[in-house]
Amino acid sequence: MTISERREQAVSEAVGRIRQIERDQGVNYEALKAIRDELIHLTRDTSLFPREHFPLTESGDSAVYRLSEDDDHRFALYGSVGAAGKSVPPHDHTTWAVIVGVYGDELNRFYERTDDLAKAGHATLNETGQFVVRHGNGVVFLPDDIHAISTDDPQPTLHLHMYGLALDHLFERLVFDPQVQTVSTMAIRVDIRAPVS
Ligand SMILES: [Fe+2]
Repeated sequence: MTISERREQAVSEAVGRIRQIERDQGVNYEALKAIRDELIHLTRDTSLFPREHFPLTESGDSAVYRLSEDDDHRFALYGSVGAAGKSVPPHDHTTWAVIVGVYGDELNRFYERTDDLAKAGHATLNETGQFVVRHGNGVVFLPDDIHAISTDDPQPTLHLHMYGLALDHLFERLVFDPQVQTVSTMAIRVDIRAPVS
């Protein structure tokens, strides 16, 4: 079997177990940690994720590669390659999300919203913690949880991001600017690629 075929088989088996976890346990932190552990298991053999299958874009920017997605757009798994200096401002997901590491460090900052939601477009955040996602660990988020990510590695990073619903079907996500205390709807990610193989 080729590397891609081995990866597709491993992904298919992992996603099958993940569907079962959600079916049996629902969506809560314990279930998401079990899903995280399945994804950590999937990434144990990094030879399934050769860097050349997940390159930066032609202009050297970060990119997202689709590894799995159900016909109804549920259980979407991506390889997310991060260019040095990649930074995503605080946002929610409106579905569950799990991130695990393959190559390099991805700094996750966690936030809680502290305003009373009374004023449209206005939001204040309080940073509640940080965690560096790298090979062998991961983080989990319920639909309303807020995080920001950034990478400083000189080499491109690769992390697996899995969502209860595909990224290009999340129309109500919020993105925050803590400096000016604003909140707005996050732009939909449409440039999702297939791994190069
Ligand atoms: Fe996120």
